[in-house]
Order: sequence, then C-alpha cells, then structure tokens
Amino acid sequence: MRALFVVLKPLCFLALFGYCPSATIRPKEGWQVYSSAQDTDGRCICTVVAPEQNLCSRDAKSRQLRQLLEKIQNMSQSIEVLNLRTQRDFQYVMKMESQMKGLRSKFRQIESNRRTLLTKNFQELKGKMNELQLLIPVLEQYKTDATLISQFKEEIRNLSLVLTAIHEEIGAYDYEELQQRVLGLEGRLRNCMNKLTCGKLMKITGPITVKTSGTRFGAWMKDPQASPKNNKVWYMDSYTNNKIVREYKSVSDFVAGVESRTYNLPFHWAGTNHVVYNGSLYYNKYQSNIIVRYSFESGRVMTQRALESAGFHNVYPYTWGGFSDIDLMADELGLWAIYATNQNAGNIVISQLDHLTIQVLNSWNTEYSKRNAGESFMICGTLYITNSHLTGAKVYYSYSTKTSTYEYMDIPIHNKYFHMSMLDYNARDRALYGWNNGHQVLFNVTLFHIIKNDDES
Ligand SMILES: *[C@@H]1O[C@H](CO)[C@@H](O)[C@H](O)[C@H]1NC(C)=O
Ligand SMILES: *[C@@H]1O[C@H](CO)[C@@H](O)[C@H](O)[C@H]1NC(C)=O
Ligand SMILES: *[C@@H]1O[C@H](CO)[C@@H](O)[C@H](O)[C@H]1NC(C)=O
Ligand SMILES: *[C@@H]1O[C@H](CO)[C@@H](O)[C@H](O)[C@H]1NC(C)=O
Repeated sequence: MRALFVVLKPLCFLALFGYCPSATIRPKEGWQVYSSAQDTDGRCICTVVAPEQNLCSRDAKSRQLRQLLEKIQNMSQSIEVLNLRTQRDFQYVMKMESQMKGLRSKFRQIESNRRTLLTKNFQELKGKMNELQLLIPVLEQYKTDATLISQFKEEIRNLSLVLTAIHEEIGAYDYEELQQRVLGLEGRLRNCMNKLTCGKLMKITGPITVKTSGTRFGAWMKDPQASPKNNKVWYMDSYTNNKIVREYKSVSDFVAGVESRTYNLPFHWAGTNHVVYNGSLYYNKYQSNIIVRYSFESGRVMTQRALESAGFHNVYPYTWGGFSDIDLMADELGLWAIYATNQNAGNIVISQLDHLTIQVLNSWNTEYSKRNAGESFMICGTLYITNSHLTGAKVYYSYSTKTSTYEYMDIPIHNKYFHMSMLDYNARDRALYGWNNGHQVLFNVTLFHIIKNDDES
C-alpha cells in the first residue's frame, strides 16, 4: 500500500511517504487533517494537513511576530548602551596601554643610562611597572569583550532583518488564501498522484525480511516498469560463476519457493548489481565492462555494449568487493549505470543509459570514491551513497543529476544481518530491495518534496 502525505505549512511543504504511514508518522501537534483522497485502485491515500486555524490565522501569527520584533528592538537598545560603555572603556584602556608602553621605554632608557641611575627612583618605577603589569590581562579582556559586543550587534541586526521578512510574508496571506491553496493543491494531487513520486530521501525504515535463502551475496528484484498485475520476482544468487536466473510469479510464490521459470544466460554475470527493466535483464558480463541486455520474453541477448573506461573485475568495487564495479539501476527517469573510471580518479561516475541501445546519454562525475562506497541507489535522478556494507552503515552522500551538486547527509539504515551486498530502489514499489547476508529484505523510504509557492505544475 502506498500513501502520499501532504503537509502544508505557510511555506508549503509536501512530504511523500513510500508506504502508508498511518501508524508511525503523524502530523505535528497543532496541525489538522484537512482532507484525504485515494487513487482508483484504492492504493494511495493522500492526506492534506493544514495548520490549525488559530495558529495559522493572520492575527495570531502577526501578534506573535510583533512581540518578537519588539523583543529584538529592546535587546538591540540594551546592546547599544552596552556598546557605548564598552567603547568608552575601550578608549580608556587604549590610553592606559600607550602610557604603559611609554613607561616601559622610559624604564629601559633609565636602565641603560647608568650614570643618572638613582636607586630609589629606579625601585619606585619598577614597583609601578609591576603594578601595571597586573592590568594587562584585564586590558586583554576588555578588548575581547568589545569584539564580542560588535558581533552581538551584527547578529541582532541579522535576526531583525529575518523577522521583518517573515512578518511581511505572513502578512501577505490570510487564512482564506491559505485554504484556497490547500484546495488547489488537493486537486492537483488527485490528478498527478503518480507524477508526484519524486522527492528527497528523508528516512529509511525497516527492513522486513521477506525470505532467507541463497549465499551471503546475491540479488533479487521486481520490474518497476511491469504492469500493475505483474508482480514477478527475479532471483540471482551469488556474485560470480553463475548464470541461472530464477523467476517467481509473485512475492508469495517466492517466499514459498514456487519457481515459475529459470533462464540460463549465455554469459556469466559479475557482481550483484543487475536490474530488470521493462522485461529485460541488464547485467555486467563477467571479467569485462560490457553491459548485457537480455530479454526474458525472447530468451535472447538483445544488445551488449562496453561501458567505456569503466573499471571492472574488482578494480573499483564497492567496499565489500565481489566484482561490484558496475552497478545498474533504474528509477523514475530510466536506466542508470554507476561505476568508476581512472579519468575520474576512481570516483563514482553516474551515466544515464538508453534502455534499448545501452548507449550513454549523459554522465556526471562525482567526487566520492567508489571503493569507499558501501552501496548506492538512485531515486528521482539523485544518487544516494552509503558509506559501508557493514553494521552502522548510513546514507552519507547524495548527488543530484538535475543540479549537478552534491550534499553530505546522515540517514541511518538498519543493516540487520551485518553485511549488505545489494541495495536498489524500485520506483513502482517505492521500496529498497536489499540482499542482507543471505536474507532478502525490503526497506521503506520516506521522500520529502518542497513545493514552491509559485509552483503550478
Ligand atoms: C520592551 O521594553 C519596554 C520598556 O522597557 C517594555 O515595556 C516591553 O514590555 C518590552 N517588550 C518586550 C517584548 O520585552
Ligand atoms: C549576518 O548576515 C551576514 C549576511 O547574511 C553574514 O555574512 C554574517 O555572518 C551574519 N552575522 C552573524 C553574526 O550571524
Ligand atoms: C516496454 O515493453 C513493452 C512491451 O515489451 C513495449 O511495448 C514498450 O514500448 C516498452 N517501453 C519502453 C519505454 O520501451
Ligand atoms: C512499510 O510501511 C508499511 C506501513 O507502515 C508496512 O505495512 C510495511 O510492512 C512496511 N514495509 C517495509 C518494507 O518496511
């Protein structure tokens, strides 16, 4: 069951959760359920949540903001007084410091001019000097305080600018307007539930263990392009020396071990990073950087093509090794290959592939070392990379092909059975398929999507 969850704040945030979040994720306090909608299969549940009227009402918000602004203004007055005082003290301090310096040079002069030296005067001077010496730390403290105060002043100025901006923005909308926005949003949601799947990864929950079978390393998957009635599961045990693909009609057949077909591929595969996309299996041919497209329907290889410059055969594997150099995956935007090249210093390269010809359509160079990546998966054109295949792994880095920018992140993933040799996103199921030390597991994902105020698409 899938669900969409919409949270409308004054700035309009939209959150999409991969699965029905009923039990685990609730709207924040002070938010009310506004309306909900289901798709034709009854699969999707959309809930629009708007702030409670009193919280959202223009007057209450405005009053709160006015109070805040007043507080800031009061503070800034206090700071000003403090600042004036410090400035005055500071000038006094500077004067003292220069006097001390003058005294010190005079002292040296006297010391070097032995002829005019009078013991009594000398001792007096020395005593005074020692007294002043004690003041030095105090002077330093004053200097530090003065810097602190000017920093404080700047902070207050910044804060008051931000508040003024928010105040203006809030003032621009009243509740009716917000309500209209919610209604408009709801209408759009009904129409494009399937289009609105994309968002930023926020959380990974699970896993649930579907089955325990096979060796420690392998791959299992469904076809994200298959028709809704087609729920076939493909199973490819081991990362090397194998070319038998097992097919199951459904997850329950898979769990029960009821195979519907087996396919004997013409070439062995390397690694565990295969993908099934629109009826074809894409995999890395053993000891090469060739990608093979095998059609299940015809039982033939339709295309094979080398992925230029891609390292293979444990030159640039994921942290666990296993010839996992070339990772094939699919998301909402199509087929992708994740690999590393010498030209990019062993760092991960993302290539979008034409799913019929396996030609590279476009490539992006990241600065994340492939050998330091535990696994990676693509959601909505953004690559997410985990930092390890072992316990404590987390999604650590993401690269958006839309903006060609990267980001460090910290999204924990529960590595239940201690060793992860496969992790791939399935856009149809909105779930991550994993091979966890001989266990076939599934994770839920929470995606978050921000709708800009002027977004009418
Ligand atoms: C600001 O200062 C005035 C006068 O000192 C005081 O009456 C008022 O309550 C203060 N406002 C806030 C928000 O602290
Ligand atoms: C104030 O804002 C400016 C510009 O945004 C920023 O460069 C500066 O660091 C901020 N100062 C403080 C103290 O936050
Ligand atoms: C997927 O496969 C079906 C039938 O095999 C075909 O009709 C359809 O055009 C394919 N879709 C794409 C995007 O190639
Ligand atoms: C995803 O979440 C739903 C609802 O909370 C739950 O029923 C399902 O078992 C979860 N699946 C996974 C893979 O965790």
